[in-house]
Amino acid sequence: MPYHSEPHQFVAWLRAVAPYIHAFRGKTLVIGFAGELVTRGRLNALVQDLSLLHAMGMRLVLVYGSRPQIDEQMSLRGATSRYHAGLRITDSVALECAKEAAGETRLDIEAAFSQGLPNTPMAHAAVRVVSGNFVTARPVGIVDGVDFEHTGVVRKVDVQAIRLALNSGALVLLPPLGFSPTGEAFNLGMEDLACATAIALDADKLIFVSESGGIVDEEGAQLTEITEGTARSILAAGYLPRDAADYLRYALKACDGGVARAHIVPVDMDGSVLLELFLHDGVGSMVVEETLEALREATLDDVGGILSIIRPLEDDGTLVKRDRALMEREIANFTVIEHDGVIFGCAALYAFPEDGIGELACLAVNPQVQGQGDGERLLQRIEQRARAAGLKRLFVLTTRTAHWFQKRGFVVGSVDDLPRARKNLYNWQRKSQVLFKALG
Ligand SMILES: CC(C)(COP(=O)(O)OP(=O)(O)OC[C@H]1O[C@@H](n2cnc3c(N)ncnc32)[C@H](O)[C@@H]1OP(=O)(O)O)[C@@H](O)C(=O)NCCC(=O)NCCS
Repeated sequence: MPYHSEPHQFVAWLRAVAPYIHAFRGKTLVIGFAGELVTRGRLNALVQDLSLLHAMGMRLVLVYGSRPQIDEQMSLRGATSRYHAGLRITDSVALECAKEAAGETRLDIEAAFSQGLPNTPMAHAAVRVVSGNFVTARPVGIVDGVDFEHTGVVRKVDVQAIRLALNSGALVLLPPLGFSPTGEAFNLGMEDLACATAIALDADKLIFVSESGGIVDEEGAQLTEITEGTARSILAAGYLPRDAADYLRYALKACDGGVARAHIVPVDMDGSVLLELFLHDGVGSMVVEETLEALREATLDDVGGILSIIRPLEDDGTLVKRDRALMEREIANFTVIEHDGVIFGCAALYAFPEDGIGELACLAVNPQVQGQGDGERLLQRIEQRARAAGLKRLFVLTTRTAHWFQKRGFVVGSVDDLPRARKNLYNWQRKSQVLFKALG
């Protein structure tokens, strides 16, 4: 349906993507696409989509592969492509073909970015493309007794030069070739180059537009989000076809190297990069960097950390005072959020099993990291623990945070609704509000 026939739908759609547009501005994206994208006639569409991302203020580095183009050049010369373990053996004929293929594709890409006809998505786009000798390579060498000759791996990426180009507003284009200090050219794998570049630039995202589509589980169902741990188990299980496994391996390597997210999207789907970025679940598979932050049940070692968060809140009257000995006795009731060895948040659950209800107490998040969803995560974990203990409802007593709880499904109740044991302990001077939540 053309959007102008349903203007309100168009407005709703544009507003729905607005948070992503804001979030992605100034972010660095490395996009690596397989040579198949060009042979299947999808280059123009990708270039149009990237021009849009560029206009939204994203810093783009584009890396391309040229395997089918090299194969084509080879067969024109009557030569046969040789591979070992999925990697091309680049003899001197293959190197000539690789240079030709890389050069031709580069010119096609630059031409595509130069379009600007009115009434096309490229009108007024004016994307400046910069390429250069940004990549130092070294030979793969001899592996399993096989000499890979002019096939190389990335040794170093000239981050400073790339950043300079990005800062000037240009899009950086990297051909799959690298150069050695001896002046030789090496044929590089697109995946290796894109991954090394993303790590070197500390990019926010690496996106592979791959001929193998996304990553599936053992039953063949597409996985939209994969943690680094899961990615490792999938690779260890060994059920993926080689191409898909290679993409996943490089995506994982990028995350291990500090890239926050690495996506694998299908080459055959029109607009797959945009769909992956602007739809909540995307259309491909995303490997996410495991954060150092952990939500877990507390142990005695955490008492000091918990106290350091709640002491200031006890002092200003937000929380009721608890002494260390009591805290140590009750430590099993606590859940904490730890980041890199430091406690940043806590919450406790006190169960009243005979009444089927639990008290959420002592919810607190370090002021430095408030507003990032940690409070919500702690609440969810306490709800989970309560459900697991067979409780049907939760209550909380608060003097200052009622609205926060109301936004999260709690409703105001009265002291009379508290379990008897708790009612007897109610401190009438504090005049806390009592809020309840049914656990679905
Ligand atoms: C309440 C508290 C745990 C929330 O932690 P958090 O990690 O900031 O929570 P989240 O990130 O999930 O939620 C943040 C949202 O809650 C809002 N919020 C924070 N404190 C609030 C309060 N007292 N009343 C209403 N809303 C509040 C924030 O403005 C923010 O809103 P936004 O998302 O619309 O910007 C934290 O503010 C805290 O430690 N407060 C002091 C201790 C306390 O009052 N504990 C509850 C008594 S049992």
